[in-house]
Amino acid sequence: MLAGVPEPVTVRVPAKINLALQVGQLRPDGYHDLATVFQAVSLYDEVTATPATGISVAVAGEGADTVPSGPENIAYRAAQALAADVDAPGGVALEIAKGIPVAGGMAGGSADAAGTLVACDALWGTNCDRGELTALAARLGSDVPFLLRGGTALGTSRGEILADVLARGTYHWVLALADGGLSTPEVYAAFDRLGSATGPGPDGVLAALRTGRAEDLAEVLVNDLQPAAISLRPSLSRVLDAGADIGALGGVVSGSGPTVALLASSAEHAAGLAAQLAGLGVCRTVRRAYGPVAGARVVDVTAR
Ligand code: C5P
Repeated sequence: MLAGVPEPVTVRVPAKINLALQVGQLRPDGYHDLATVFQAVSLYDEVTATPATGISVAVAGEGADTVPSGPENIAYRAAQALAADVDAPGGVALEIAKGIPVAGGMAGGSADAAGTLVACDALWGTNCDRGELTALAARLGSDVPFLLRGGTALGTSRGEILADVLARGTYHWVLALADGGLSTPEVYAAFDRLGSATGPGPDGVLAALRTGRAEDLAEVLVNDLQPAAISLRPSLSRVLDAGADIGALGGVVSGSGPTVALLASSAEHAAGLAAQLAGLGVCRTVRRAYGPVAGARVVDVTAR
């Protein structure tokens, strides 16, 4: 390394599944009040921050061609916001390696924003505490604070106010990835148009997580956005039906979709379900993941 030139920083940041997503009224600010239980799962994006003059974003991996690379990219805005907040010079070249499906309802964009905050904070040596980063994260997007934190958490308000939950066990998921994404605002608009009902909320999920039994959790997975997502993408019903047919414990559309998350009883069960689901041809591709996992963290790339 050249004297005085910081080394690049790489941050790994997970995707999320909403185990419960209860959607309330449309608020005057254009958001809906939520009560949601987030779980961070082991699909990751990596954000690498390298010293540069000005801000740039390059995106690689599946679906990268559909992700903007200018100021419309939430990672760009995250770097800009941190620089403004801490009065840093704010130069950074961001490289994002996508492992989280783009526009898939798993918070890939929010993950990149969370990863960028942690990466730039380390690169610039600004040493923000978690509270400062969380406040910045909440300004960038409703899911960004959770991706900083990871694990399992209850989210309220827009989803950005987080509380600890008691969660036991590790859960094994099979994720059915769709061809093409869904726009989150469009799914919320469909929710309003359909006059969708507000469902039972997170209590059942919170109780199941205390037992640590996947069978209990499977019974209570709930997503109020699911009918809206299916109205925009009717083929999602076939994926959910296929999951039930092949013996998944339960299934739910992830967030605003179109990814469908199927719950398995073990890693072995997930492997079997994934192979069967891939053979049915009801989705573009299949991934496995487990949760909960940690939020955005600097990784030591020299240890690889
Ligand atoms: O906060 P974020 O930018 O991720 O939200 C994207 C869009 O999703 C919002 O503009 C809004 O249309 C919708 N949304 C909502 N209520 C929430 C979170 C998101 O209506 N609580």
